Amino acid sequence: MILSPSLLSSDFSNLARELRDLEDAGLSWVHWDVMDGSFVPNITFGPPIIAGCRKNSGLFFDVHLMIEAPDRYLEDFVHAGADLLCVHAEACRHLERTLSEISRLGAKPAVALNPHTPLQVLEYVLPQVEMVLIMSVNPGFGGQTFIPFSLEKIRRLKSMINQCNSRALIQVDGGVTPDNTRDLLEWGADVLVSGSAFFAHPPYRQRLETFMQAAGEQLKIP
Ligand code: DX5
Ligand code: ZN
Repeated sequence: MILSPSLLSSDFSNLARELRDLEDAGLSWVHWDVMDGSFVPNITFGPPIIAGCRKNSGLFFDVHLMIEAPDRYLEDFVHAGADLLCVHAEACRHLERTLSEISRLGAKPAVALNPHTPLQVLEYVLPQVEMVLIMSVNPGFGGQTFIPFSLEKIRRLKSMINQCNSRALIQVDGGVTPDNTRDLLEWGADVLVSGSAFFAHPPYRQRLETFMQAAGEQLKIP
């Protein structure tokens, strides 16, 4: 299991310290929720803030773009230091082109689906993505309740991935807690995003251990 804490619930007044604390606690990924106030009813941060934080962090920057027409900013986000760029299928008119462009720029391409979006939209692009993000809440805010039908969606996606020999990871985002971690992994998730259920419970090392225990895994990092 990979745990990718969502900075949406972190202390925005001290992002550098938050990133350092995550790294010290043994985390390897961090999830950036980029919101434009149009695709979702909330606004967060953009490339300059990510670029500023990149300088002092060795974490894998998992960047979730909740923005309209993301093609306009792909280059900016890659230059800012995104390791993975995840675009919403609903926000891309030419999804294949967008994913190819992310690869060309040197980042890992990923695609996110809102809760109501059918998996069929992935049929032809699955072989070219490194990760699929299943939104298990409607995007825009932290602290929402997990939508139960997401579990079935993860199971179906897992079987689609196996059928086409894709190497795509399945990421689940929204309402993830230690209580549903075991189920999510059993149904096929590889990467769990957690915002409120992670940052509200410092110290982060202990919180990571709680998630790992829920996953039935031991924390191996010293
Ligand atoms: C929601 C974001 C999530 C969010 C998750 O729009 O994409 O990453 O931060 O927050 P929690 O874990 O609190 O549901
Ligand atoms: Zn997210």
